[in-house]
Amino acid sequence: MAKTTFNCSECGGTSAKWLGQCPHCRAWNSLIETVAEPAGSGKNRFGARPGLTPASPLMTLANIEASDFERTPSGLDELDRVLGGGMVEGGVVLIGGDPGIGKSTLLLQALDALQRRGQKTLYVTGEESGAQVALRARRLGLEGSQVQVLAETELEKMLSTLQAERPHVAVIDSIQTVYSNQLTSAPGSVAQVRECAAHLTRVAKSEGVTIVLVGHVTKEGALAGPRVLEHMVDTVLYFEGDTHSSFRLVRAIKNRFGAVNEIGVFAMTEKGLKGVSNPSAIFLSQHAEPVPGSCVMVTLEGSRPLLVEIQALVDSGGPSPRRLSVGLDRDRLAMLLAVLHRHAGVACMDQDVFVNAVGGVRISEPAADLAVLLAITSSLRGRPLPKGFIAFGEVGLAGEVRPAPRGQERLKEAAKLGFSVAVVPKANAPKKPIEGLTVHAVERIEQVVEAVRGL
Ligand code: TYD
Ligand code: MG
Repeated sequence: MAKTTFNCSECGGTSAKWLGQCPHCRAWNSLIETVAEPAGSGKNRFGARPGLTPASPLMTLANIEASDFERTPSGLDELDRVLGGGMVEGGVVLIGGDPGIGKSTLLLQALDALQRRGQKTLYVTGEESGAQVALRARRLGLEGSQVQVLAETELEKMLSTLQAERPHVAVIDSIQTVYSNQLTSAPGSVAQVRECAAHLTRVAKSEGVTIVLVGHVTKEGALAGPRVLEHMVDTVLYFEGDTHSSFRLVRAIKNRFGAVNEIGVFAMTEKGLKGVSNPSAIFLSQHAEPVPGSCVMVTLEGSRPLLVEIQALVDSGGPSPRRLSVGLDRDRLAMLLAVLHRHAGVACMDQDVFVNAVGGVRISEPAADLAVLLAITSSLRGRPLPKGFIAFGEVGLAGEVRPAPRGQERLKEAAKLGFSVAVVPKANAPKKPIEGLTVHAVERIEQVVEAVRGL
């Protein structure tokens, strides 16, 4: 068994045994087990961890041949879209998401599609038995699937199967269940997850295997296990969406082989996940008549505009009123309320304020600001916004309304879906009128409140 040491994540100091407090910097709970590597122990790349390897020859940047990545599309268009065109040889993808959102379903479908295209695939399951995986495959209508399944949680055994089988694509479901027998820490601990992911990443690079790691997310929505996992891998995808609705988004938040913030949209059906190629209207709740506290915005995620309804409820609160948001940043909400008060004279100090992006979608772009503010004022006043109304734009602390990128595309999409009135930042106002859409261009938050009052 390899020797392990404990490194402090705060000061980097080492200790031979685990201690609650770092003997060097006195930080608590900061020691993490790592395998101490004797230098030059470069054995088999599948078995032992390589120590110092001989230096690669020095090259001048201009003389290195730049080769584009060889991509293999999975055939699931929405997944290929977020991956930047398909699986890349030697690429490592981390996919995270809440339990039950559909990670295993999507990856099983993807592996089967790849297998049918002549790729050799391996599905390593650490959470479910082979029988459970087979049951899911039947449900997905994948009878006769040739995907290889390995029910295993020990890293070393996985590596020997990878070596023997040499698949093109391997899925590890999930990285939190994998443990290395070289470490004494429990499976799922930071040390185990980090070490196993690092080892699998090295194998992916050296052997040209595409490895997809499934990761759990914590209650706060971050990937469980060390953050270093996100640094190690080439692509990080997040699965999001409301498990109660059928729509799911897969978002690329890091991609060394493609654009970030690209999204893939799926609908969970009786027979697995189906791609939604024209998703712009799926996040609207269908009100027969306009209701107070609702404002539709156009967000641009990746290459496609999406219309998302923002809902707000402003209600009289207690001595310390609450500010809660679902799908939107809470700090930003607090900031927007301050701007609304200071620059437009609309006060919500003694009110509870709740905001929600409909359909479980998460919106991080500041272009949501205007819609959030308008939904709040609409709820506060108990007056709906006009029928067919949309808004987008960023709001600054000085009360200015800043343009959103690619405003024309957003407006055109809204017009296409039958929206007829828009409030947008001045710089986003169209040069040529867009048919069927009346655009009100605003520069300051005071004007927004004024413009809406007159509608
Ligand atoms: P799963 O892929 O097991 O989620 P994860 O791996 O992210 O935990 O998804 C399970 C959910 O999806 C479960 O609640 C049942 C549902 N589902 C369908 O609706 N249709 C299907 O065809 C399948 C296979 C699952
Ligand atoms: Mg699963």
